[in-house]
Amino acid sequence: LISLQVEQILSEFRLNKEELKEIMKRMQREMDRGLCLETHEEASVKMLPTYVCSTPEGSEVGDFLALDLGGTNFRVMLVKVGEDEERSWKVETKNQMYSIPEDAMTGTAEMLFDYIAECMSDFLAKHHIKHKKLPLGFTFSFPVRHEDIDKGILLNWTKGFKASGAEGNNVVGLLRDAIKRRGDFEMDVVAMVNDTVATMISCYYEDHSCEVGMIVGTGCNACYMEEMRTVELVEGDEGRMCVNTEWGAFGNHGELEDFRLEYDRVPHPLSLLLGHAEKKSCLLMCSVTHVSFLFLRSLQQPLLSSFSPPLLSLFFSFWSDQSFIFIFYASCRYEKLISGKYMGELVRLVLMKLVNEDLLFNGEASELLKTRGSFETRYVSQVESDTGDRKQIYNILSTLGVLPSELDCDIVRLVCESVSTRSAHMCGAGLAGMINLMRERRSQDFLKITVGVDGSVYKLHPCFRDRFHKIVRDLTPHCEITFIQSEEGSGRGAALISAVACKMAASML
Ligand code: BG6
Ligand code: GLC
Repeated sequence: LISLQVEQILSEFRLNKEELKEIMKRMQREMDRGLCLETHEEASVKMLPTYVCSTPEGSEVGDFLALDLGGTNFRVMLVKVGEDEERSWKVETKNQMYSIPEDAMTGTAEMLFDYIAECMSDFLAKHHIKHKKLPLGFTFSFPVRHEDIDKGILLNWTKGFKASGAEGNNVVGLLRDAIKRRGDFEMDVVAMVNDTVATMISCYYEDHSCEVGMIVGTGCNACYMEEMRTVELVEGDEGRMCVNTEWGAFGNHGELEDFRLEYDRVPHPLSLLLGHAEKKSCLLMCSVTHVSFLFLRSLQQPLLSSFSPPLLSLFFSFWSDQSFIFIFYASCRYEKLISGKYMGELVRLVLMKLVNEDLLFNGEASELLKTRGSFETRYVSQVESDTGDRKQIYNILSTLGVLPSELDCDIVRLVCESVSTRSAHMCGAGLAGMINLMRERRSQDFLKITVGVDGSVYKLHPCFRDRFHKIVRDLTPHCEITFIQSEEGSGRGAALISAVACKMAASML
């Protein structure tokens, strides 16, 4: 029997309907602040205009290249956009996955974009199309402040990417430069979109009521079609524009403090946070401090003589580490409660708490379980997929070096359920807030809407989807919501947006 103490620890993860409504309200408030010119800068939810306007009608047909960077996999795709007998879109894709080496993720922007260009070159060669100058749609799943559909500044990296020299720069420019540096193929980059936007557009192709796109995978984010008159960052009042909410940052200014638990406050390892450049400057700073200290001490400065040089350097390195941790610590707070990048680690932290309180594994954890990142998010899905004979749970725990009792297995399952249910409910409150806001804006008594969704947590976790759908529907009494799971959404979406952009460019000539 699960003890009361375990139940009590896990009960902190439960959110009742009133609490979810409160989260929903706070999300709506931040969304409004993000849209409004006056409050935009200080809002945690950035509500970035995407320059993807009314949903596409006419488009060019032909071959497009699509890139998909920012999810679990980096993909290059060839997308054929055509029309069938009813003049509806017909889309066929060929794609290849490439892994992004750690160096490219955390080195310099040049290294990252050179690697991307190298993969493109390899793909084009394999498909014998290196000689063609194809239009390219780039799904780039990070916060970007667009100036147009093919121009946008990366605001900050998320999800462990850290390539230095990219933040604050035009991403399409970085890609074009890398293609030029390589010089063995040409490409016409016509559109850059967030993965939520690509997902929404690819689902729109199946269902014209699709006006929301959402990702619950490594990261978590959503976009939707907002009335132009409320998108104050862009001139014009007519029609709608798709807004990339970047809601992962919700809570960064303290809006979720009363809902965050001790496990959510544990900072992530520095190696993930610092790119090579930052590590170097950190080291440099320590060395400069050290040398300055020696110099000042030689001048017999009284204040410094009480410190020893190593101690002072340590203090400085501690201080600088903390400031970096602080930057990360104060970022992506909502995303950290939901997405796949953190879910497994949250489960591990709870398991460690139970071990330390002598409530699990006889109070002893294996070295592996004590290691950060060892409880992968896919284990959460596997534990919750166990049919009841505990075999799957037992196997996972054995690979982590612990030999669990039956009760241990049941407790581990309960921990996984608690963490993933909170994730589904938190995410559901956000989406419900967005949909209710859309209904209010449109002054409709009843809103019928379709949401296109992608991401490994949504697709692969056995219960996330149902728990999430239920809570969204509970919180949106005057709406009818259909969810569509996107298949290869980012490639198709980016290509379709590019096809529309090409058509518009052609009609302006
Ligand atoms: C993929 C999309 O299917 O899902 C990507 O093509 C998206 O664009 C990704 O970023 C999100 O899920 P995950 O789990 O890979 O982060
Ligand atoms: C992160 C990114 C966002 C992306 C999401 C899902 O939150 O900042 O742009 O859409 O992950 O991949």
